[in-house]
Amino acid sequence: MSFLSAYFYDSFLAKTEKACLKEWRKDILKHVHGNVLEIGAGTGANILVYPNNGIQLTLSEPDKHMRKQLEDKVVRNGLNHILITSNSIEDNNAKSETYDCVVSTLVSCSVPTLESTFTEIKRILKPNGYFLFIEHVGAEKGTRRRLWQNRFTPIWRNISGNCHLNRDIEDAIVNAGFTLKEIKRESMRKATPLVRPTIRGIAVKN
Ligand SMILES: C[S@@+](CC[C@H](N)C(=O)[O-])C[C@H]1O[C@@H](n2cnc3c(N)ncnc32)[C@H](O)[C@@H]1O
Repeated sequence: MSFLSAYFYDSFLAKTEKACLKEWRKDILKHVHGNVLEIGAGTGANILVYPNNGIQLTLSEPDKHMRKQLEDKVVRNGLNHILITSNSIEDNNAKSETYDCVVSTLVSCSVPTLESTFTEIKRILKPNGYFLFIEHVGAEKGTRRRLWQNRFTPIWRNISGNCHLNRDIEDAIVNAGFTLKEIKRESMRKATPLVRPTIRGIAVKN
C-alpha cells in the first residue's frame, strides 16, 4: 500500500465502520481467548474492540505504511503489552499449535492464495482453536454483481494491494478442513457495491 492509502484508510472506512463494521468486529472478537494472533492488522481497527479478558495479543502487519499507523495507534492508546510483528501469514514462523485464536478481518481477499493461507492458519492453531473472520467475498455465482466483480478484479487488485473482489472464501475455509461453528452472511452497508457481500464467523480446527 502507498503511504497515502495507509494514511487515509481509516477515513475511507469511517462510514462503513459506523454503519455495520464496528458492530461486526465486536460480535466476532468477543470470542477471543488465550494466545491470539491477528493477521493483516492494518491500521489497528480492532485494537480497541478486543475484550479485556487476559488474552496475549500479537498483531502482524507486513505493509510498512499500515504498520506505522498501527504502531502509532497502539502507543497512543497505551496498549504497550501488545506485540506487533511485520510477518505476512505465509512467513509467520510460528510453531505448530501455538495459538488459541487467529483473527482475520478483511485480509483473505489480499493473501497470495486462500488454500496456503488457511492451511497455515490451521497449522498454527491449537486443536479446537478458533479462526475468527470477517471477509468480503464473491457474490453468488451467476449474479450480475459476480459478473462485475470478475470483470473488475484484475484492475482492482493492482490498485488495492492485491484485493480480489470475487473470492469464494467460505468454500476455501471448509475445504481447508475447518468446521464452521458460526457463519453470518450480510451486506456491508455504506461500502462500495462490489465489496458488499460478506461473511463473518468462527471456524474451528478439528
Ligand atoms: C483491507 S486491509 C484490512 C486491515 C484490517 N484488518 C481491518 O480490518 O481494517 C488488508 C490488510 O491485509 C494485509 N495483508 C495483505 N496480504 C497479507 C498477507 N499475505 N499476510 C498478512 N497480511 C496481509 C495488508 O497489508 C492490509 O493491511
